[in-house]
Amino acid sequence: MKVLGISGSPRKDQSTDRLVKEVLSSVGVETEFISLSGKKIGPCIACLGCVEDNICKVKDDMQSLRSKIEDADAYVIGAANYYSMLNGLSHCFLERFYQFRHREGKTVAGKLGVAVGVGGGDGDAVVGNIKTFFEYNQIECVGTVAGQGVASCFTCGYGETCKVGAIHMFFDPGTKISPEITPDLDKQPDILKAAQELGRKLGERLKGFAAAT
Ligand SMILES: Cc1cc2nc3c(=O)[nH]c(=O)nc-3n(C[C@H](O)[C@H](O)[C@H](O)COP(=O)(O)O)c2cc1C
Repeated sequence: MKVLGISGSPRKDQSTDRLVKEVLSSVGVETEFISLSGKKIGPCIACLGCVEDNICKVKDDMQSLRSKIEDADAYVIGAANYYSMLNGLSHCFLERFYQFRHREGKTVAGKLGVAVGVGGGDGDAVVGNIKTFFEYNQIECVGTVAGQGVASCFTCGYGETCKVGAIHMFFDPGTKISPEITPDLDKQPDILKAAQELGRKLGERLKGFAAAT
């Protein structure tokens, strides 16, 4: 049994990566974590080149992920909240699962999934997007977890004066950026605990699968 964890955030080692890893940490079977950061993965171009053999013909970094997706028994998929939907890199990655759907392709159908969402406000919209993706691909959603990450406005250098960013949106005028007001998953123990419990739940389900086969 193997669980593949994917973080679709373009920012490496930030909150989406962390929350996906937190789920993986308690699964209790073999896991692999992959960050999509820096990877070139374009959208599905609807060329239907995958119809006959369920193999996408677009040449980019998705090709090297294909066998890992095939080999995994479950997926922990995390994405960042961009404009109240999942970020573009994650969207492209998930669109490319179209290659597994044709002619009763069973590569991902029947497998298990966990949805992880992170946003500067919250990741709720994102887990909704990933859940919908799971449904379309007949992946059973074992659970979801969403947390608050750090909006770039905390570090861009203009956050305290910018009139459109997160500091302006979330705090009173004149608020100074400090560690106290900066979101951090370590300040969200309930979310971390929920992620670990979800990992345990996924592990138990997988062990049940293994015992039944
Ligand atoms: C282009 C862009 C749009 C964003 N839009 C939203 C948003 O609509 N709602 C929200 O809660 N956070 C939004 N954010 C903040 C990110 O969700 C936040 O920084 C999150 O921590 C990103 O995940 P990461 O830390 O794993 O990179 C946005 C960030 C970017 C770069």
